[in-house]
Amino acid sequence: MTPTLTISPACCDADIAQAAELIDSRDDNHHPLDRAALAKARLLLLARLDGTLVGCGAIKAGDGEVAELGYLVVASGFRRLGIGARLTKARIDWARGQGIKLLWATVRAENQASRDNLLKAGWQFYGDYLSIRGTGNTIGWYVLPLQQGLDIQALMAGPIGNRTPVSPPG
Ligand SMILES: CC(C)(COP(=O)(O)OP(=O)(O)OC[C@H]1O[C@@H](n2cnc3c(N)ncnc32)[C@H](O)[C@@H]1OP(=O)(O)O)[C@@H](O)C(=O)NCCC(=O)NCCS
Repeated sequence: MTPTLTISPACCDADIAQAAELIDSRDDNHHPLDRAALAKARLLLLARLDGTLVGCGAIKAGDGEVAELGYLVVASGFRRLGIGARLTKARIDWARGQGIKLLWATVRAENQASRDNLLKAGWQFYGDYLSIRGTGNTIGWYVLPLQQGLDIQALMAGPIGNRTPVSPPG
């Protein structure tokens, strides 16, 4: 039988703990997970294949009409099957339903999989900025307007803060 993928919001501490374990298992050099922040996410979605957790993705903690996508991880044996795309679409649909106007997300410049996943879902590149952690890493910022006629620059002024833009080479 074809395995069934279900995507549903975390509904208890055990779900959050499972998602945290998956995020912590990331094979790239990501910074340590702030579990308290994860627990406060506006939305945490879990993707399960026949009951086994294979992915998660969130809309991070906060309120208001601008929100950040984050914590997207698909377990390494289950990539390129469309699970990341499904988790991304489900978060966008939820945000729309909540009246959120603008979504944003950050991706390390070298993370082609994550960047292409956003671009395929209709996101726009907003700009490259130096990591606020002082690592010298370049972080790509992406936005998805959910309404027409937004002043994206004004709405992004808060999230971007005083980060240093990285100019394109040449
Ligand atoms: C990024 C990630 C979540 C993608 O999950 P996934 O389930 O493999 O993605 P999907 O199969 O749904 O792919 C959706 C699209 O993303 C892009 N993509 C995914 N993996 C890719 C890869 N290795 N290289 C290039 N593009 C990729 C493609 O555009 C793909 O569409 P396509 O398959 O039609 O070409 C997964 O690679 C992952 O967990 N990476 C480690 C954690 C991480 O980097 N999280 C994001 C932090 S910002």
